[in-house]
Amino acid sequence: MAFDVIILAAGKGERMNSKIPKVLHRVLGRPMIDYVVRRALSLEPDRVIVVVGEKKEEVMSCLSTYPVLFAFQEEQRGTAHAVLCAEGLVGSDHLLVLYGDTPLIEEGILRDLLEFYWRAPSPVFVITELADPKGYGRVSMEGERIRRIIEESEATGPERDIRVVNTGILMLPRHHLHLLLEIKGENRKGELYITDLPSIAEERGLQVRAFFSKAHESLMGVNTKEELLMANLVMKRRIARRHLENGVILLDENVYIEESVKIGRDTTVYPNTYLLGATEIAEDVQIGPDVTIRDSKIGKGARIERFSFIEGCEIEEGVVVGPFSRIRPKTYLRRGVRIGNFVEVKNSIIEENTKANHLTYIGDAEVGRDVNIGAGTITCNFDGIRKHRTVIEDGAFVGSNVELVAPVRVGKEAIVGAGSTITKDVPEGALAVTRVPQRHIPDYRRRRHVRDSGV
Ligand code: UD1
Ligand code: CA
Repeated sequence: MAFDVIILAAGKGERMNSKIPKVLHRVLGRPMIDYVVRRALSLEPDRVIVVVGEKKEEVMSCLSTYPVLFAFQEEQRGTAHAVLCAEGLVGSDHLLVLYGDTPLIEEGILRDLLEFYWRAPSPVFVITELADPKGYGRVSMEGERIRRIIEESEATGPERDIRVVNTGILMLPRHHLHLLLEIKGENRKGELYITDLPSIAEERGLQVRAFFSKAHESLMGVNTKEELLMANLVMKRRIARRHLENGVILLDENVYIEESVKIGRDTTVYPNTYLLGATEIAEDVQIGPDVTIRDSKIGKGARIERFSFIEGCEIEEGVVVGPFSRIRPKTYLRRGVRIGNFVEVKNSIIEENTKANHLTYIGDAEVGRDVNIGAGTITCNFDGIRKHRTVIEDGAFVGSNVELVAPVRVGKEAIVGAGSTITKDVPEGALAVTRVPQRHIPDYRRRRHVRDSGV
């Protein structure tokens, strides 16, 4: 059956003590609102309407890739008012209301709620039970029915001890929206609380039902930085569990894996590793400890050793990177490549089985297969104004401490002698050396001593 989703995301989030609007705070790399929107879309509603207000441009731009509509709440007058701000965009006869600050919400709970609702469409709030209900609206029940929801700031003595709480998620038929107009805002904050709906309904002989969910962890609202940390920890564990079920080996819980990351079976992730963004890791890879990988693809059986930082690149099967390597965006490392310690590679293609094992900078380069790059080699790609490319063809041997001043080409199987500064193309198979020839001044030490001491 058809329904619309309204997501409330207009609040400032005072309790966050932040310049960033609350719903844009991140949980494992994604803004909280992003999770809620994706869960909403996965239910395939007719529309998703996001109510924005505080820093609305920022919130809207972060959701720009999703098929959602935006409603505006210029002044944050409370959750009931926020829902009413979306009314003009509503097209279905049934509404699901979600809060933008509940990033842990799971699709299953929402599907169960919908099933419960469709059996007899009438207002339903999702409730749960908490050991520590602080901060939440307390729910006073009468059988299946909600009598009243008492907000934390309004709750007195025994009401504070109620551990059954409102999660903020609710469903209601569109023709009941008018009840929200009657909510008065007679509370300490002077806000129009949607949680006054049960009392208003009762006065009209209508019932508001409760849908009880045991999954309190998934229903938590994030109002403070401490709750944000909690949400991150829960999400982290959830993601770890998913990878473990998929056959990934995690040696410690101390890994930070963002929700979007994919990891293949029998890949081992060592402690203190950060896997971020659109990263895809194949099977049998060894990563870490102390490695960061962002927006990159890592092929089967690769090894990414300690203290390496990899960003925006593609690494093929069997490549070994690190320890202490930095692989920057637009780098392609083909099969069997070996990038060792203190090597930086940027915007370069390195073909199969090539090695750059120590202390090297390769930028804006095309390096062929079976090339050896000696320690201390630098592609001088920047002339102060523009970037230029270096090409090193298959089988070339570049000795240690070589500068390749781009644009320049080292031909197939050419050899560049150690310590050379190459400014002209090296022909195929040739040896290029630019060193000043070594000369010997005989007996130099003794003669200098004689000169300096005047003896
Ligand atoms: C709300 C509920 C509380 C519940 C808790 C669950 C109300 C009055 N209280 O309290 O019963 O236990 O959530 O997490 O609803 N928002 C707007 N416009 C506004 C005010 C809020 O869009 O004018 C948005 C916020 O951005 C937020 C959501 O509504 O995403 C909830 O508001 P918040 O202030 O966090 O409510 P709580 O105090 O947590
Ligand atoms: Ca909240």
